[in-house]
Amino acid sequence: MSAFISDMSRRSFLGCSAGALLASSFASLAPPLTASSSPRRIILDCDTGVDDAIAILLALRSPELKIEAITAVSGNVPLALTLPNTLRMVEIAGRGDVPVAGGAAIPLVRQLVTASYVHGENGLGGAEFPEPKLKPVDEPAAQLIRKIVHSRPGEVTIVGVGPLTNVALALKSDPELASQIKEIVVMGGSLTSGNITPSAEFNFYVDPEAARIVFDSGVPLTMVGLNVTQKVLLGEQQLGALEAAKNPVSQAAGKILRSTIEHIREGRGITAKTMAMHDPLTVAHLIDPTILSLKDYYVQIETCGEFSAGESVAYEHPPARESAPMNLGPAARETRAQEFKANAKVAVGVDPDKFFQLLLQRITRES
Ligand code: BDR
Ligand code: CA
Repeated sequence: MSAFISDMSRRSFLGCSAGALLASSFASLAPPLTASSSPRRIILDCDTGVDDAIAILLALRSPELKIEAITAVSGNVPLALTLPNTLRMVEIAGRGDVPVAGGAAIPLVRQLVTASYVHGENGLGGAEFPEPKLKPVDEPAAQLIRKIVHSRPGEVTIVGVGPLTNVALALKSDPELASQIKEIVVMGGSLTSGNITPSAEFNFYVDPEAARIVFDSGVPLTMVGLNVTQKVLLGEQQLGALEAAKNPVSQAAGKILRSTIEHIREGRGITAKTMAMHDPLTVAHLIDPTILSLKDYYVQIETCGEFSAGESVAYEHPPARESAPMNLGPAARETRAQEFKANAKVAVGVDPDKFFQLLLQRITRES
C-alpha cells in the first residue's frame, strides 16, 4: 500500500515543548467546540486498524456527532482483533455509553485478505494496550444497524471505513432498510489508482460484492476515495503535537501512530515517515463539510475482473458503457450504453490544513 510515502529526517522530530506549542496553535485555528443542538446521528462501521482507531477517537470527541453504535468488521486484521481494538478505543475515550457490536468475520463470497503489513499483526501497528474491560453487545452488527435505523427512519447516517460486509448484510437481509437510511458515507475506492492493486482500493478489494450492493442500493452515498485521502499525510509535525498533549486519547493516538511508522519502516526497509489519514478524513467530512469538495458521479464497482475486482468505475457523465460483449456467434449482442444515473457524491478536492487543524484540536484537547 502507498500509505507511507514521504521521507523526513529524524532530526526534524519536534521536541515536546514545540509539540505542545503546535497543539495549542492548532486548537486556536480549528472550528470551535460547541455542543451542537442537533448532532448528526451516525453508526461507524470499521475494521480497526490504525487509521480506523484515530477515526473512532475523532468521532467520539466531536459533539457534532451522536454515535449510535460502532460496529466492527474484518479487514485490516481479522474480526477477532478489530472488535477488541474498537472496544479499546471506546474505553480510552471514556465512552462506554456507545454500543459496540461485532460483525462479519469474512467477506460475502471471498477469502479474507488483510493488511497487517501496514497495520501490524495486532492492527494497531504493534502498539500494546491492555485487554478491554468493555464488552460488545450481544447482537451482531447487521442486526444492530437495522434496529437503530428503523428506530429513527431517515435520521441515521452509516459511515463505513472498512470493507462494507456488515452494511451489505444489513441491506440484503432487509429490503425496507435502504429507504430509511439517511446517507452512507464510505471511505473506499478512488478516482485515480488503487493502493492494493493498480485498480482497487483496499476496502473495496476485500469485499467488492459488498461494495456493489451498497452502491446499487439507492441510498444517498458519499465516496471518500484515495484521490483525496492520500493527500492528508500525517507526519512528524502532527505526531509531535499528539505526543506532546498529555490526555490519554492523544497519548494513545501518538503511541499507535509512532509504532505503526516504525513497523512499516522495519518491514519494508524504507524511511517513509508519513501515513495517510484515510478514515479520519471521512469522519472529519461529517464534522466540517467544507474540508472536502464533492461532485456527482455514477460509480459502479467491478466484481468480475480477473485483476481488477473492487475497482470503483466512476462515470462523470454519460454514456456509461459496459465492457464489450463476448463474441458468441449468432447469440452476440450489441454493446449497450447503460442509463447514466448519478448515485454518489465523490470527493474531488480536500483542504489538508483544515483537516489537520480539526483532527489535532479534537484529539489533543484536555477533555
Ligand atoms: C483503507 O484501507 C484500510 O487499510 C484503511 O483503514 C482504510 O480504511 C485505505 O485503503
Ligand atoms: Ca479502515
